[in-house]
Amino acid sequence: MTHWIQSDDGSYTAYSPEYNEHYHSTKDGALNESLKKHIEPAFALHGDKNHLRIIDICFGLGFNTLLSLYYRDTYFPETTLEIFSPELDGALVASLVTFPYPTLFDPYKSVITDIATKGNYHDERTTITVQITDARVAMRALEGEWDVCYHDAFSPVHNPTLWTHEYFHDVARLMGKMGVVTTYSTALATRLALHENGFGIYLNTGEGYRNATIASRQTLTRYEKVNMEHKMKCNPQGRSLRDGIDV
Ligand SMILES: C[S@@+](CC[C@H](N)C(=O)[O-])C[C@H]1O[C@@H](n2cnc3c(N)ncnc32)[C@H](O)[C@@H]1O
Repeated sequence: MTHWIQSDDGSYTAYSPEYNEHYHSTKDGALNESLKKHIEPAFALHGDKNHLRIIDICFGLGFNTLLSLYYRDTYFPETTLEIFSPELDGALVASLVTFPYPTLFDPYKSVITDIATKGNYHDERTTITVQITDARVAMRALEGEWDVCYHDAFSPVHNPTLWTHEYFHDVARLMGKMGVVTTYSTALATRLALHENGFGIYLNTGEGYRNATIASRQTLTRYEKVNMEHKMKCNPQGRSLRDGIDV
């Protein structure tokens, strides 16, 4: 049973007793966290694309997908959006028609209803597929080149299988030349797992939210690069999580 709770920016998030964790940082605020850690970097780096392909791990309450629609419609109305989002909890997705979303999402009521009732939404500028499945399975089955992966699973402590070297290997396979992974985690183990899979690691920092990470295939100039060699020297015991070892 998931409980709704108001976060510090006024938007509602939820608490999962099963994972003993909130769906968003209650301090950063659900909407603010989604905006600062995922949507702004994604569009800052890929806003020039005519067609943007996003993997949204995991759908949860759908903030990252819905805010991507809002952001596209507000700032990049010509861009067509394709979003694929795996989510294990089908009952949660089906319940979202009654979730107290911020008024910003009012124009997307029909999107929420379509996703909650049939798992997808289509219009001439938008394709959204929410698949009720394990993200590990989904990442192995998915094909094609994607521009952005919002990595927004529960924390490595409570949901380690979605943070391993092998998991990020499967994500890396799907990322195009300019592909980026955004995540709230700044843990060395997370950054190592991404780094080992060919990503440069960048710091996403700013006012009003805790530091986050952007992993990029391509050199980025607008974000500060994390010196991973130095980090590894300072933390010789540091390791990425591995399937079947740390999990
Ligand atoms: C932190 S919440 C996601 C928050 C979401 N991005 C949002 O905007 O609301 C984590 C979600 O991961 C889902 N989950 C946990 N393990 C999963 C797995 N192996 N595959 C897919 N989804 C999973 C949970 O059911 C939960 O909805």
